[in-house]
Formats: sequence, C-alpha cells, structure tokens
Amino acid sequence: MATTLAFDVYGTLIDTHGISNLVHTFVGDKAISFMDSWRAKQLEYTFRRGLMKNYVDFSECNRNALDFTCEVLKCNLQPEERNRLMREYKVLPAFTDVRDSLEKLKSVNLRLFAFSNGSAADVNGLLGNAGILHFFEDVVSVDDVKTFKPNPAVYEHFLLKSKSSKTISWLISGNPFDVIGAISYGMNSVWIQRSPDAVFDTWGIKPTKTINGLLDLATVFNE
Ligand code: LAC
Repeated sequence: MATTLAFDVYGTLIDTHGISNLVHTFVGDKAISFMDSWRAKQLEYTFRRGLMKNYVDFSECNRNALDFTCEVLKCNLQPEERNRLMREYKVLPAFTDVRDSLEKLKSVNLRLFAFSNGSAADVNGLLGNAGILHFFEDVVSVDDVKTFKPNPAVYEHFLLKSKSSKTISWLISGNPFDVIGAISYGMNSVWIQRSPDAVFDTWGIKPTKTINGLLDLATVFNE
C-alpha cells in the first residue's frame, strides 16, 4: 500500500502570518505581540476545549483568541475590524514552497491528505483559494470526532478516513505539538523547522525526520 502523508494546515501549508500587514494597520507596533498572542491562545483554547470535552468549531476558538488578545494588549478594535480579521483568516496564503513541493510529491507514488483542526469547509476554502486543493485526495477534519489535536482519537480518525495504517502514515507538520501527538499515537512524522530559531519540545519524543522546508520532503520519500 502507498505511503500516506497527512499535511497539517495552519502553520504548515498555510502561513498564519499572512495576515500580519492587516494586523499592523490596525494595531501598529503591537502587531508582533498581537500575532503571537492570537496564535498561542487559539491553540491553548483547542487544548482546553479538548480536555473539557466542550468542543466548538476551530473558528470559534480563533474568534475567542482574537477577542482575548484585543483585551490583554488593550487594542480597541471595533467589531467590523475584528470581523475583517476573521474573514481574512479564511483566505490566508500558502507558504511559497507549497506548490512546488506538492507537485514533486504527486509525481511519486504517495497519497496526500490535508489534516486539520479547522473545519472541512474552512480548510477546503483555504486550500481552494490558494490553488492547491487539487493535490489532495481528501481533507480530514477533527470536526468529525469533535475534539482537537493532539488527542489520539483524531490521529486514529485520520487513519480510518484515509484507510491507512500507522506504519505507513506520516504527519507532516510545522507544529511540534502536532508532531509529538502523531508520534505518541504511533505514526511517523516530519517536523518542518521553518526557522533556525524554532525549538522542538525537549520531552524525549523526537520527529522521525526534521527538514527546513517542504521542498526537502521529496528527498525524504525518495530515499
Ligand atoms: C491545524 C493546526 C494545528 O491545521 O495548525 O490542525
């Protein structure tokens, strides 16, 4: 059976910093702290919701994280400005290496999936807008099981949906918590270390492979 690749979406295929310029026009010098807080809180809320067994759609976690960030950084964004940021989040750009990388991988015998905390509708919209949806056999969303990464139930759901198995499945992700979640569950995983400053958690669980950008993936799977 062909090797199966599960691509994380936000922070791996899709650049969450693609909204930074708009954030800068709204909050000026606070833009970097704003982006950092928004993303960190968004993920924290998914972790907490998962533990509480109180699931809401990822976009609601994201909206709650945006509102928290406005409060904590004392940014008085108007409802229309907040709504604009939420709309822009649905059309974030892909990283520049995504298309060439997927093209190379498509020419090898690999099955490619998108696998995300985002709803299937949001992920289909994002990948469609970025012109890369056609590379994927399917979009698998945690929404089907109403909990979030890194609950092992979501990686299991991925295997069920893709009709794959642990040993031949790889999570591809720029997010260390996701890589650790997949490996802890029993899958393989590639960590995309996009910046030399990015640090992988020192728990003892290591990525199966680490590369600096998606273009190196073809080398990993041609070995
Ligand atoms: C996702 C988040 C974790 O796309 O980035 O699943």
